[in-house]
Amino acid sequence: MIRMLDDLDAEGAAVGVRVDINSPLDDDGIADDARVRAHVDTIAELCERGARVALLAHQGRPGDDDFSDLRPHAERLDELLAAPVEHCDSTFSSDARDRVERLAPGSALLLENTRFYSEEYMSFDAEDAADTYLVEKLSVALDAYVNDAFATSHRRQPSIVGFPQRLPAYAGRVMEREINVLGNIAESPEPRVYVLGGAKVDDSIGVARSVLERGLADSVLTTGLVGNAFLLADGVSLGAASAAIVNERSHRAVKAAGDLLDEFSHRIHMPRDVAVEHDDERLELDLGELPTGQPAMDIGVRTVSAYAEILEDAGTAILNGPAGVFEDDRFDTGTLELYKCASRAHKSIVGGGDTASALRKLGILEGFDHVSTGGGAALQMLAGESLAGVESLDQ
Ligand code: 3PG
Repeated sequence: MIRMLDDLDAEGAAVGVRVDINSPLDDDGIADDARVRAHVDTIAELCERGARVALLAHQGRPGDDDFSDLRPHAERLDELLAAPVEHCDSTFSSDARDRVERLAPGSALLLENTRFYSEEYMSFDAEDAADTYLVEKLSVALDAYVNDAFATSHRRQPSIVGFPQRLPAYAGRVMEREINVLGNIAESPEPRVYVLGGAKVDDSIGVARSVLERGLADSVLTTGLVGNAFLLADGVSLGAASAAIVNERSHRAVKAAGDLLDEFSHRIHMPRDVAVEHDDERLELDLGELPTGQPAMDIGVRTVSAYAEILEDAGTAILNGPAGVFEDDRFDTGTLELYKCASRAHKSIVGGGDTASALRKLGILEGFDHVSTGGGAALQMLAGESLAGVESLDQ
């Protein structure tokens, strides 16, 4: 059984809260604070209930440009919350532990980027994760652990799977909402229509296989590079430019798409037309007018209307990945129109990460029943699989 925040006796307790505030950064700091905002409810509630909140989080990966300290994140949280939020420049040092112990009820301290420590960038069994320096040392200063970092919960990292071995553990409000929706796909209204696109072709084809095999999907509508991989597998000659882009992304995609078509062709739908650039303009071509020298940048209106018909009858529409190169406004139509149709389904669920930021840029984030905060984690749950971080909360 997973305990929720309602089960936690927060008054005066030192509560370690793992959040995922991993955000795009620019020269001024946090470029998109959506993930920071997502955790405000959990942190505010714990502070209002008199907890002493020690926040654990990561930013970027070692070696990447966005690998940085969490001072800007603490400043942003301090602005967003009524409760004071301070930053500590270490994570489990004696200074960090002292500061957690001295925290006043109703206030929060953001500990330093957990990934500054190599252990946090490794995968562990829960028992071994409990013996890492981070978990062993910090849990002494804590009374309870809350995992609100749904978006990192597909990782077997100490801050995700280790603390529940040493402390009473609870799901935060973000985690609770995600589990309630993404953990119950099998119970959501049928027919269930998955719309899979985006640039992560292997991931999307993996989701397609999983949901088709598990009987979770009545239809899979393929778009973007995923749609192109299926068209190529089906023998459509898109042209060398489109084929090269798919193959650059993944050498296995066309073969994997072909295998799925062999098994589930009646449930997989492919684009009927594509949009390419011609004289700087958008030009739509039916499959019969292919191959073309230009890469396919979007799905065309015939595909949108065929998919819209399927989506009209959907009990649940589950979407992941844009339908084309939406960053270029000549090629955002497919994504815009398809997502608008899907938002009218009885229930609409959007996978997070890149999809959520695409929707935000296009100004169409409203109208969906659930937009996940997770990227890889959301994909894994949409595929019907469990997450290490969720399993470790099940005490
Ligand atoms: C994400 O951005 O998907 C999460 O913060 C997890 O980050 P990671 O992919 O670097 O583990």
